[in-house]
Amino acid sequence: MPLRVGVIGAGMIGQEHTRRLTTVVIGAEVVAVTDLAADRAGLLAAEAGARPHASGAEVVARPDVDAVLVTSWGPTHAEYVLAAVAAGKPVFCEKPLATDAADCLRILQAETAHGRRLVQVGFMRRYDDAYRRLKRLVDAGDIGAPLIVHCAHRNPTVPVSYTSEMAMLDTAIHEVDVLRWLLDEEIVSAQVLTPRPTRRRFDHLQDPQLMLFETSGGVRVDVEVFVNCQYGYDIRCEVVGETGVARLPDPARPAVRQDGREGVAVVTDWRERFGDAFDAEIQAWVDAASAGTATGPSAWDGYAATAVGDATVEALKTGETVPVDMEPRPSFYSGAQQ
Ligand SMILES: NC(=O)c1ccc[n+]([C@@H]2O[C@H](COP(=O)([O-])OP(=O)(O)OC[C@H]3O[C@@H](n4cnc5c(N)ncnc54)[C@H](O)[C@@H]3O)[C@@H](O)[C@H]2O)c1
Repeated sequence: MPLRVGVIGAGMIGQEHTRRLTTVVIGAEVVAVTDLAADRAGLLAAEAGARPHASGAEVVARPDVDAVLVTSWGPTHAEYVLAAVAAGKPVFCEKPLATDAADCLRILQAETAHGRRLVQVGFMRRYDDAYRRLKRLVDAGDIGAPLIVHCAHRNPTVPVSYTSEMAMLDTAIHEVDVLRWLLDEEIVSAQVLTPRPTRRRFDHLQDPQLMLFETSGGVRVDVEVFVNCQYGYDIRCEVVGETGVARLPDPARPAVRQDGREGVAVVTDWRERFGDAFDAEIQAWVDAASAGTATGPSAWDGYAATAVGDATVEALKTGETVPVDMEPRPSFYSGAQQ
């Protein structure tokens, strides 16, 4: 029998994941949808052949909902994840796990008390083929021990509602997770340098930003976040090791020679860059949830990303190097990273 999924949040990514669940991945169906905007929930439910509901609590409580997908606004995630864990149901939560570290800790406690993993957090880069190859190479020791990592996260542009803090909380949060996974080390401090801002920005926005992280093993990381770069969606990661350097390949695109020039189109949209990774991520979730558990980025990873995010936002405000305030990792969350 397919996994019967209840979707909480019928906005942009809720619609994308519902389409994935109904038309791409194997072994799932969407049976329930809710959103604060009832009309949005109604439309998505009709498309998916599901029933619309008035609240997330109703969705979680429905006996024929086997697993829950949380794609509502960030500040609402903790409430729904906690409800799913209390009901013993596997839950996929889009990033962030929670906007507050204390809420993340509540989720860790609830899941630990349940005794089996139920929570997967939506850090889809771990399912990207290029990142997976890079990790295999680093893990195999092909470039020796990593010493430095250079990253860039560039978007063509962002809406006026985007704030300077979102450069960390919405954007670099993906680098934070993938760096922890790639290096298998925690990030222990954050600093933010603020270059001359682009004139193609809003007055309220510091863009670009240069984030500097240090890991528990002493690896130094720089992450350029530039969300009005104009030219494309460009994700870069280069690991400098003791005996070599490894970097993410550019997405494969045909090179066109014309009018005396050669050119390769640059990806402009994050959905295009990470579409396959999202598909693999949701398939992995469905497979694990069908067995009553969870895989991939855990609630611990969600907590760590939120803790690093808090330190980085503080570093942006103060200009200081800010230590990351994190609880020790419970043994429940030890073991191989996926
Ligand atoms: N992994 C990724 O790369 C990625 C990409 C996009 C979005 N996201 C994350 O997904 C989440 C949703 O983002 P989005 O772009 O779809 O936003 P969105 O604004 O398009 O959709 C969010 C939806 O949640 C609904 N909602 C808000 N509060 C609710 C509540 N209490 N109960 C039920 N529904 C509620 C809103 O009405 C809205 O329809 C965010 O946390 C975002 O960070 C992750």
